[in-house]
Amino acid sequence: MGRSFYIRTYGCQMNALDSQKVAALLCSAGYGVAEQSEDADLLIVNTCSIRDKAEQRLYSDLGRLRAWKRERPGRVIGVAGCVAQQEGDAILRRFAAVDFVYGTHNLRLVPALVAAAEQGERSARTAESRDPGRFDVPQLHPDLPSATPGRAFVTVMEGCDMFCTFCIVPRTRGREISRPAAAIEAEVRELAAAGVREIALLGQTVNAYGRHDLRRGHAEMAGTESFAALIGRLAAVPGIERIRYTSPHPSFFDAALVRAHGEEDKLCPHVHLPAQSGSDAVLERMRRPYTATEYRALCDRLRVARPDLAITTDLIVGFPGETDADFRATLALVRDVAFCDAYTFKYSPRPGTRAAEFDDAVAPEVAQARLEELQDLQRSLTLAAHRRRIGEETQVLVEGTGRHAGQVSGRDPYHRVVNLAAEVEPGELIRVRVVEATPHSLIGEPLAPPRPFAPAKSVKNPPSQADEGQCLGAGFSPSTINATSAS
Ligand code: 5AD
Ligand code: SF4
Repeated sequence: MGRSFYIRTYGCQMNALDSQKVAALLCSAGYGVAEQSEDADLLIVNTCSIRDKAEQRLYSDLGRLRAWKRERPGRVIGVAGCVAQQEGDAILRRFAAVDFVYGTHNLRLVPALVAAAEQGERSARTAESRDPGRFDVPQLHPDLPSATPGRAFVTVMEGCDMFCTFCIVPRTRGREISRPAAAIEAEVRELAAAGVREIALLGQTVNAYGRHDLRRGHAEMAGTESFAALIGRLAAVPGIERIRYTSPHPSFFDAALVRAHGEEDKLCPHVHLPAQSGSDAVLERMRRPYTATEYRALCDRLRVARPDLAITTDLIVGFPGETDADFRATLALVRDVAFCDAYTFKYSPRPGTRAAEFDDAVAPEVAQARLEELQDLQRSLTLAAHRRRIGEETQVLVEGTGRHAGQVSGRDPYHRVVNLAAEVEPGELIRVRVVEATPHSLIGEPLAPPRPFAPAKSVKNPPSQADEGQCLGAGFSPSTINATSAS
């Protein structure tokens, strides 16, 4: 029997997509997909370092993997992702069981690294690359089950030049680089031909797409364009019915992108818009180049363009120096914008970042109490937003089975999870009426016969429906080859 692999993925959608691409490369190199690590000959841990808990997972995994390796001769272990990018060959020195390490720009090297490891050669490859060709690794392979039937993530830019003081990402994903629009379109055409109906455009600051090339007058040479132009181009690809993007930065919403939310029917009425804090003093120390008032004004502009827009966000509590008044300003922002959902985090110092040197840490019990108060507030807003949806018609892209027997589960255009009793294949788009609201999802009933979806363009209470978004922060749970970006 041939050799097989298993990839354990932590962290964001960018990591999940990297795992999917490496899986496709390994399938092309003749490896089989193992259902579980126990069956595999090759195991890759694709790591995350956004917060300390995520990083600690690698170290506890590696402890257990020594035994895994001893169980069968010839087994090989690789370490990938953000911790690999930062630590490089230090991982090889520290962990004798690890055979190879590759960074976030080196996916293509994996088959060669595996072949070398099988010959007993241990190596680490973490060089940063400015070649946009590195994005062009196929994510589909006939032997590979789709992680998300009917949906696919497509990288449009990678890296980050913002250097928020709390964030490790600029050090793990490198400098901003945008992929040529024609290459993105070619990938989307291929995905559509394979049955993909919804694409989520991925990038650390996805709406900064093309900005450096446009500012320097290099766009034509680089093959890039404005983010709004890219969305228009991809909306014209036959078969693509929904377009999302994650995660945008509040500083890069130009008039054309705001307008697109009102004019481009295929652009989903959901924006995951990381705010991080509602206090101007904290935002300044985070090096977020906007005020809370500017953030509110952006939400208003977006809702003028698209009144039913669902806005979700990322928020950090306990950032060094955060006072009680700062925290109250965050609560006020949450109430004013009426986010449909929020990913909330306790600040976690990351070695090598500016904020890790700030000496006015918030006491852990204070940070914990703030987190709980924030989560309580958001929970009530999310449930209220869900309840306002009862009776509404929506459209669900079915992803798989639901929580209960006979149920399927999928997402609506607002990115809310909808569960319903229906016999539909994953990847299908169906019309649904919302009949019940729970704190985490909606319950729906299928509507027949299916007809084209035309979401309401105006509602009386703008701050209502939405979703839980998916930023680099979302879904920090281990997955296999499938699986979820930070701004
Ligand atoms: N501590 C806590 N949260 C963080 N995030 C990024 N870095 C940190 C950190 N050091 C959060 C931000 C970002 C999301 C992906 O993770 O809210 O938007
Ligand atoms: Fe870049 Fe987002 Fe991290 Fe800020 S939070 S440094 S914008 S990835």
